[in-house]
Amino acid sequence: MVFPMKHEHNSSKICTASAALTEPAVAEASATLGVSGQNALTARIGRTPLILLSRIANDLPPGVEVYAKAEHFNPGGSVKDRPAWSMICDGIRSGRLKPGMNILDATSGNTGIAYAMIAATLGYRVTLCLPKNTSTERKRIMRAYGAELIETDPLQSSDGAQLRAMELAAESPEKYFYADQYNNDANWRAHYEATAPEIWKQTGGRVTHFIAGMGTSGTFTGTTRRLKELNPNLCAVRMQPDLPLHGLEGMKHMETTIVPGIYDPSLADVEVEVATEDAQETARNLARKEGIFVGVSSGANVHAAIRLAKALPAGSVVVTVLCDTGTRYLGDPFWEEGT
Ligand SMILES: Cc1ncc(COP(=O)(O)O)c(C=O)c1O
Repeated sequence: MVFPMKHEHNSSKICTASAALTEPAVAEASATLGVSGQNALTARIGRTPLILLSRIANDLPPGVEVYAKAEHFNPGGSVKDRPAWSMICDGIRSGRLKPGMNILDATSGNTGIAYAMIAATLGYRVTLCLPKNTSTERKRIMRAYGAELIETDPLQSSDGAQLRAMELAAESPEKYFYADQYNNDANWRAHYEATAPEIWKQTGGRVTHFIAGMGTSGTFTGTTRRLKELNPNLCAVRMQPDLPLHGLEGMKHMETTIVPGIYDPSLADVEVEVATEDAQETARNLARKEGIFVGVSSGANVHAAIRLAKALPAGSVVVTVLCDTGTRYLGDPFWEEGT
């Protein structure tokens, strides 16, 4: 497929979208809560930089560019601030999240950190179900924000956490607001309303390929849906771990896990798989060669984006996502490996 250049190349290395979060439920609920002012922590969610990867993507065909949406710049350190805020606002607006209730969900860590951070600013309690083998760094951050953690069987990975959260919600519906990120439309809508328009604006409408891995699939689903409306020729690439048992924390191997209700299999034009070692090596290279310290799923996204870009024609503009900060993986030994 050949994609035409739509605008002249913007030569600045980092561009920042100026549009505020536009998701209507978010705007309405944040106004209701009185937290939409300039000083509100939640007003810092979104409008992340788009970074041209020039040093680790330096052997691409002429005229092909790879950009990364730097979601680790969100106040909670990950892409999940966007859907967490969107789902909480939607809960408040719809009346399902009432004062005094606990925000409950299953999370591999980043959404939990985002819920806990936001809930702390609003005065809600948070209960999070997560696999016992979630990294110590993430668990400590969630506890630092005051969240209650319920650890589940690591062998059942995120599926076990999801089943436990469903049980708790069914047992005490009056106590819990079950945000249910895997099945909540306010998750993908955060990306539809804000992430995609930001990418569109930051690339001057030139984006030809969007590539992202999937946990709940919210990032891929919402961003792809909107970008395809803006450019029907956009090529959407779904990335996933190459094996059911893998080290890409936060990413699902769709064929062997509970498929999220919000996942839309018709959106992806191309599917690619990434090995854990390749993702770790790319995360290391992002830190050492680009000065970007991000986690393993970000490494997987960038690895897949560069591999894809090597076979693309001039004028291709590939955009992927840096999901979270590398500090959440400091306990992993791979940072010291390699040369
Ligand atoms: C580290 C990390 N990367 C990527 C994702 C995927 O995001 P999404 O749930 O939007 O598919 C997650 C989800 O929790 C995550 O924790």
